[in-house]
Amino acid sequence: MRTYVSAFSNWHTRAWVRSKPHHTGSRFEPGYDFFPADLAMTMGLPEVGAIPGDIRSDLLVYELYGYLRFTTLLEVNLVSSVCKRLVRRTDIVGLDPLMRRDLLMAFADEAGHAEMCEEMILAVEEETGLRPIEPVSQPAFIRALRLLSARCPIPDRSLVPLLAAVVSETLLSPVIVNLPTDEAVHPEVRALVRDHAADEVRHSALFRVVFRHLWHSWPSYVRRVVLELLPDVIDALLTPDKAWLREVLARYPDVFDDPDELAHALSGAHMTALLERPTLAPVMGLLDELDALDTAEATEIFLVRGLSPVRMARR
Ligand SMILES: [Fe+2]
Ligand SMILES: [Fe+2]
Repeated sequence: MRTYVSAFSNWHTRAWVRSKPHHTGSRFEPGYDFFPADLAMTMGLPEVGAIPGDIRSDLLVYELYGYLRFTTLLEVNLVSSVCKRLVRRTDIVGLDPLMRRDLLMAFADEAGHAEMCEEMILAVEEETGLRPIEPVSQPAFIRALRLLSARCPIPDRSLVPLLAAVVSETLLSPVIVNLPTDEAVHPEVRALVRDHAADEVRHSALFRVVFRHLWHSWPSYVRRVVLELLPDVIDALLTPDKAWLREVLARYPDVFDDPDELAHALSGAHMTALLERPTLAPVMGLLDELDALDTAEATEIFLVRGLSPVRMARR
């Protein structure tokens, strides 16, 4: 008898790639911002209070580029790869065949999300004339996850990407939650993020089941390693890319005289702000549900990193 309840039964009629407009060739009415000011890292800088309106608008465009490009890279480098690997792995005992199908549907979704984010970057670039910032090196989150994989104490190198996919697919991104309802933002951008968010509800349900399944299959020493890795995985995913921020600020040398220092300060402030929101509540709730945080030792692992499991799970 089947115990797995799929969240993808309506995928053919509800998924963005199957049933909704792709927002390509977007047209932008004047009078809107490209990104919510209250979610924009650069808007927190004191220098921004005195800048002309056109620089403020530019900074919001760069914030949108940053969000869209991060999404593309996350989908392509991380989530799609993990979906593919889980589908291929025949050694995961008891993985329901329907779950494999759902992982393929999520794989198709993520490719579509990446493509549509890139289309939006091209449309905004054409509209505004602002060139996106191309990374000089790998994005910070990919580098951080690679470093973490290299020092993973068990031989299975797929563990860190797997945990990163579980975290990224279950957390509540403030952009996904709040951007679609911000009426100051261009309707086309809001529609893009709203359609993405609807797909992510299905992904979150799927990755919660996958994680539960794996958690029960892991021996206690692997579970311990998982708990020790999670705070670093969370950090890798949520810490803003300082090199990218620096490049944005350096485009306005008359306004921002020390881009390195400002990027560093902004990055720390942004992390604090994220942890003030219910961003990690679903991740902590999942661990709580599995009784993974029941020992003082497990709680301590999170507390020493400034993550209070109890407080965050109950938001
Ligand atoms: Fe996605
Ligand atoms: Fe997803």
